Amino acid sequence: MPVSFINLHAVNDHFLEDYQEEIRKIFESGQFVNGPTVQKFEEQFARYVGCKFGVGTNSGTDAMLLSLNALGIGPGDEVLCPAFTYGRCADVVARLGATPVFVDVRPESFCLDPDLALASMTSKTKAIIVVHLFGMAAEIDRLCQIARTYSVYVLEDCRHASGARVGGRRLGSFGQAGCFSFYPTRSLGAVGDAGLVSTGDDKLSEQLRRLREHGRANGKGEHDVVGYNSRLDPIQAALLLLKMQELDENNLERVENARLYTSLFKGSPVVTPPFREDLSHIYNMYTVLVPDRDKLAAHLTEKGIGHSVYYPTPLHLQPAFQYLGYKEGAFPVSEDLARRVISLPVAPGLKKKEVQEVAKTILEFYGQ
Ligand SMILES: Cc1ncc(COP(=O)(O)O)c(C=O)c1O
Repeated sequence: MPVSFINLHAVNDHFLEDYQEEIRKIFESGQFVNGPTVQKFEEQFARYVGCKFGVGTNSGTDAMLLSLNALGIGPGDEVLCPAFTYGRCADVVARLGATPVFVDVRPESFCLDPDLALASMTSKTKAIIVVHLFGMAAEIDRLCQIARTYSVYVLEDCRHASGARVGGRRLGSFGQAGCFSFYPTRSLGAVGDAGLVSTGDDKLSEQLRRLREHGRANGKGEHDVVGYNSRLDPIQAALLLLKMQELDENNLERVENARLYTSLFKGSPVVTPPFREDLSHIYNMYTVLVPDRDKLAAHLTEKGIGHSVYYPTPLHLQPAFQYLGYKEGAFPVSEDLARRVISLPVAPGLKKKEVQEVAKTILEFYGQ
C-alpha cells in the first residue's frame, strides 16, 4: 500500500468554502497589502505564542533575516548557529555581512548543544540562533541563561515548531525574537510563503515593521533605513486565521502518530526521536536514525512509501560555506546525523494503518 509523505488536502480542503468567503471580503475591500486581516492574524498568533507583538513577513527566512538586521547584527559580528539544520539559518547571517559560527548538536535532540555553544562564545558573539529542529524544543532555558550571562541575543527558529511548548510556555516567547514559517508543509501552513516574528520588545517590533516596509517612507519621500519588501499577504493571513483553530488538534494528531511509530519500532535498529506527550515535540517531522539509510530510502521509494532526508549535508560542509574554512570531522554529531537521518510520514490525515504499513515496510527491510 503506497503512503504519501504528506497529505495537504487533509489539512486544507475542508476550509475551502470559508476561505473563499474570506477572499471575497478581501476583494470587496480592495486591501491586498497590509490591512485588518493581517493585523488580526498578527495579534492572534502573538497571543497564542504568549508575546506582545507579532510582525508578519513573507517567509520564515525573512523573519530571521529581518530580526537579525533589526537587532543590528552586521559585519564583524559572530552568530552561533547549529551545524545540523536548514542552510537558510546561516545564509541570513552571511547576507548581513556577519559570520556564522557553527556549533554541534545533541545526538538525541538534533538541537544546539548548550555546552558547545558556551565554548564557542567570543567577544564578537552577538547572537545565538536556536533552532527547535523538526518541532522539538531545544534546551532553551539553558541557552537563554548563557545568552544573558554574555549579553547576547537569542533568536528562536520556530519554523518547525508552531505550537510546541516548554513547561507550558510556547516556543517563540523565550528569546528576543521567535521566527516562524507558515510554509505549506509546516504544522500551521499557508498556501504559499508566509512568516512571522513574535517578540515582547516594542522597539524591535517597530523596527521590524519599518524594515519589512522598504525602510518605511516618512511621507516626504525619505526613508529612515535601508529596508526590504517583506510583508505577509492578507490572502495568506486569512487562511492562517482559519487554520489556527485546528493547530493544537493537528499537533496532537502528530504526537499520536509519533507514539504509534515509537512503539512499533521498539527493539529494532531504528532509533526513534524522544517521545514527548507534553508537546515539547510536535513532530513537524518524525525523523529517525537508521543504518544503511540510502538503501532503505531506495527500498521505500520502490514500495511507494513517502519519506525525505532532512538534511543530508551539514552546514559546515555546504559549498556555500566553504569560505569559512571548516573541514570534515569538525562537527562529528552533525556529520553522523546527516548520514543516518530519514523522515517518515507523520502529518495529520495519516491513518493508523498507514503508520503500521510504513513501520512494517521498514522492519521487513531490516529482516524483522
Ligand atoms: C529549520 C528551518 N528554518 C528555516 C526555513 C525556511 O523557512 P521559509 O521556507 O518559510 O523561508 C526552513 C524551511 O524549510 C527550515 O526547515
